[in-house]
Amino acid sequence: SGSAETISVSSPADFHVHLRQGELAQVVTPHVRQGGFSLAYVMPNLKPPITNTEQALLYRAQLQAIDPAVEYLMTLYLSPELTPEEVRKAARAGIVGVKSYPRGVTTNSEGGIESYDAYDAVFAAMEEAGMVLNLHGEVPSAAATNTCVLNAEPAFLPHLRKLHAKFPKLRIVLEHATTRAAVECVKSLGDTVACTITAHHLALTVDDWAGQAWHFCKPVAKYPDDRTALQEVVREGHPRFFLGSDSAPHPFETKATATPTQPCAAGVYTSPILLPLVAHLLESFGALDKLEGFVSKHGRAFYRRPVSESDKRAVLRRASSKVVGIEGYGAGQTHVVPFWAGKTIGWEMVE
Ligand code: NCD
Ligand code: DOR
Ligand code: ZN
Ligand code: ZN
Repeated sequence: SGSAETISVSSPADFHVHLRQGELAQVVTPHVRQGGFSLAYVMPNLKPPITNTEQALLYRAQLQAIDPAVEYLMTLYLSPELTPEEVRKAARAGIVGVKSYPRGVTTNSEGGIESYDAYDAVFAAMEEAGMVLNLHGEVPSAAATNTCVLNAEPAFLPHLRKLHAKFPKLRIVLEHATTRAAVECVKSLGDTVACTITAHHLALTVDDWAGQAWHFCKPVAKYPDDRTALQEVVREGHPRFFLGSDSAPHPFETKATATPTQPCAAGVYTSPILLPLVAHLLESFGALDKLEGFVSKHGRAFYRRPVSESDKRAVLRRASSKVVGIEGYGAGQTHVVPFWAGKTIGWEMVE
């Protein structure tokens, strides 16, 4: 019940997380487990991006070496390098998905994504091999079409509809949805289309990131009514909506020291506090009883990674837990700062 003093959740899974590379990966990868999660669906936007099977397997081995207790599901970055043959190879090697970013897509005159047609053969191979397509659902900003960060996601939704119509058996995830329009669109589509929601988009609106670098991420948080729609679909317990934190750490210097020529980096870092934060937020809008569905069961069902009997449960207890501000790393002592640093969360992990 809502007043319980402890909650346990079967094997939480974060279906969208940025674990980075090099020294930053060494710091942030252990935070998956610290934040209560035993599965990480890993984004491929490294420098250079993970575009083939070999790179993804090498990256997975690096993550496993940092924390072998977490299961890492790997993705490829959609690019012209990805062929149907490479898709089949990736699927055989256990790579689960392909992430599409707007710029990875053939563009056309009107300044937006006109078509994914160039990738038809790739998507057909993915559908056949059972791979998942992960969409960053924003069109690029363009003055000619009055498109900017506030309407970039609704403007993308026709592309999602078209993809689903063309490849009805291809499992597609609309990542990090931020609008009522996106929620309604995904609901209206078939069982092969799902949607991730981040913790921070359940908390933030435009007012929170305007002038606040630590709350700035892509896609940006939208209107209060959009946030309400995200909260409502979680409270409803809809099985095709689940957590993908989009936890995206950036060094302190790239977030906090913006200049007129160097804007701040986009990304909110939630991994170290993720399960307590999600419990706190769900409780704030009367959805604490939906926690296990949202952080474990729904995503695992869609990805066909059910909880097994031997999987450990994550246990939370009520607390008054202040988010620790800064973590230093590397020879030059770079720092990363989590979401809600200095604020108090009403739950904590039981060690
Ligand atoms: C980037 C993109 O679109 O290329 N995404 C973004 O800015 N929201 C990819 C990235 O961040 O790596
Ligand atoms: O805010 C964001 N940060 N959005 C993205 O799509 C990428 C991410 C990152 O990698 O930092
Ligand atoms: Zn994205
Ligand atoms: Zn992301």
